[in-house]
Amino acid sequence: MRRFVVIGQTATASGEFSLDDLPATSGRLDVLVRCVRAALLVSHGLRRDAMIYLVLQGGSRAPRTIKIDGRTAEYVRPDERSLAGAIRSLLVRAESPGFDVSTRGVALADGGLDAVIADLGDFTPYVLDESATDMRSATIDLRNPVFFVGDQLGFAESTRSRLAVLGALPLSVGPVSVHADDAITLVSNELDRRAARA
Ligand SMILES: C[S@@+](CC[C@H](N)C(=O)[O-])C[C@H]1O[C@@H](n2cnc3c(N)ncnc32)[C@H](O)[C@@H]1O
Repeated sequence: MRRFVVIGQTATASGEFSLDDLPATSGRLDVLVRCVRAALLVSHGLRRDAMIYLVLQGGSRAPRTIKIDGRTAEYVRPDERSLAGAIRSLLVRAESPGFDVSTRGVALADGGLDAVIADLGDFTPYVLDESATDMRSATIDLRNPVFFVGDQLGFAESTRSRLAVLGALPLSVGPVSVHADDAITLVSNELDRRAARA
């Protein structure tokens, strides 16, 4: 199982945003929505071996985290507006039932990075970082890797420190800083190649 954790420093944890102007009204939740597509969808299907957490640190209800599990997810659409609409329907709820309560593979929990770390259980942590060693020359745990991804702002210092304490190995996907969803696509591609060789 490959898992991605995207830390949205400004992405709203409340459902009060407009689908007609997602970037300007949601604290750039659009960045995280694109990460969902990149992590979970392939041409004509879902990656059943992938999971994504969206850590929402912006807005009045923060922090809250959405977890989408590819093993059980249904109706995950590739277009940004549909995905954002589904996320808004989730976020307008008053309660956050927790990671163990999911509907069609989607769960909503109170809490941020620490809540995610508690939910992850057994895993090998990696942090995607432009200035790190290229992942192509790194040894990667193909069984249970977790990749932490920054948003349009990168990572806050407090998050970097928390991930360092966790022992997360910094990895780059290439010499150019790309968008968060593209970084996820490049990781997925590298893992697909390694799995095909194994
Ligand atoms: C748009 S980038 C962040 C840019 C931000 N201005 C910064 O300097 O951190 C969003 C996230 O994608 C990931 N990322 C982007 N390019 C990468 C690369 N070449 N290697 C590894 N991760 C990358 C990182 O996790 C980064 O925090």
